[in-house]
Amino acid sequence: MRQIPHHIAIVMDGNGRWATRRLLPRVAGHRQGVESLSRCVRACAARGVAVLTVFAFSSENWNRPADEVSGLMQLLLKALAREVPKLQREGVQLHFVGERARLSPEIGAGLAEAEAATAHNRRLVLNVCFNYGGRWDIAQAAARVAAQGLPFDDENLSRALALAHVPDPDLLIRTGGEQRISNFLLWQAAYSELYFSDKLWPEFDEDELDAAIAAFNRRERRFGKTSAQVTAADGERQAA
Ligand code: IPE
Ligand code: IPE
Ligand code: MG
Repeated sequence: MRQIPHHIAIVMDGNGRWATRRLLPRVAGHRQGVESLSRCVRACAARGVAVLTVFAFSSENWNRPADEVSGLMQLLLKALAREVPKLQREGVQLHFVGERARLSPEIGAGLAEAEAATAHNRRLVLNVCFNYGGRWDIAQAAARVAAQGLPFDDENLSRALALAHVPDPDLLIRTGGEQRISNFLLWQAAYSELYFSDKLWPEFDEDELDAAIAAFNRRERRFGKTSAQVTAADGERQAA
């Protein structure tokens, strides 16, 4: 039987190249990227995925040309207005993960409003990482643990991280052909299965999602144990 990952995380990469290949401005690729995300959310909910975490804007993406950055900020506001009613209907609980201080007051208010409006939804948790970096997350968690005067252990740090409301991702997908983490979930991806897709994010569809889930099903997650231990534990579970 096919096992559906509880939590899927995605680095949605390749929007710019998708647009450039069509002689369009890069922001047209980002616009198409929002469509692709909307499709992906629906597909994940239909398959019974409980948590989807996507990388939408990294701490380092501020270094892009100013017109692309402002295009992305405007797109975020437009996407909120258009997509939140759809997410409501689909039972999606929305969270924005990342540093808010650098975002404009208008965006900050839009994010808080969207979160409050969808807080009661239970079908799928969607975490949108925006102005997020794995290093920022670990540093802000450490600062919070220090402020509480607690020891810096795994448990206290995990509790202070920005994704403390969900378990770690089981499957981490990156589209766009690049095989790197680019400061995404540095702590939380410790034992995620990695899947790299050559599809550009705007082209990512249900078939590619199913291919990633199929690949996940062919992996043996050992968490440091031996294969024999894992096989024995699986046998016991099936017998119970
Ligand atoms: C990912 O697509 C979206 C963001 C980083 C905002 P890119 O814009 O990085 O697309 P490529 O990698 O240039 O094709
Ligand atoms: C990672 O993509 C960030 C997002 C998808 C939001 P980048 O395009 O910024 O990554 P690099 O620069 O190729 O590593
Ligand atoms: Mg890129």
